[in-house]
Amino acid sequence: MGKIVYLLPDDAEQVVEARDGESLMQIAVQAGVSAIEGECGGEMSCATCHVWIDDEWAAKLRRPSQDEIDLLESDEHFTDESRLGCQVKYSSAIDGLVAKIPG
Ligand code: FES
Repeated sequence: MGKIVYLLPDDAEQVVEARDGESLMQIAVQAGVSAIEGECGGEMSCATCHVWIDDEWAAKLRRPSQDEIDLLESDEHFTDESRLGCQVKYSSAIDGLVAKIPG
């Protein structure tokens, strides 16, 4: 058990408990982080779980797949820090990770 910090589009911060194996999208939806919808349930077809993760934290994550990159690139908020929250799984290695939500 650890935590993920969500920075909301209005710059408010929401700190949420996270369990191993849960995705950043699942963690946010279960906690009521309203800026993350997770509309497709993690099937990589909606991008409503889009988050920005800075390089320091991103270095601790598995690289995004080409399918993930393709979907992110079609989103108006795409940057080099973009990830799909549904494709990033929590583990203790990323306890305290900060995920910014575009908006
Ligand atoms: Fe739809 Fe992540 S929840 S792409």
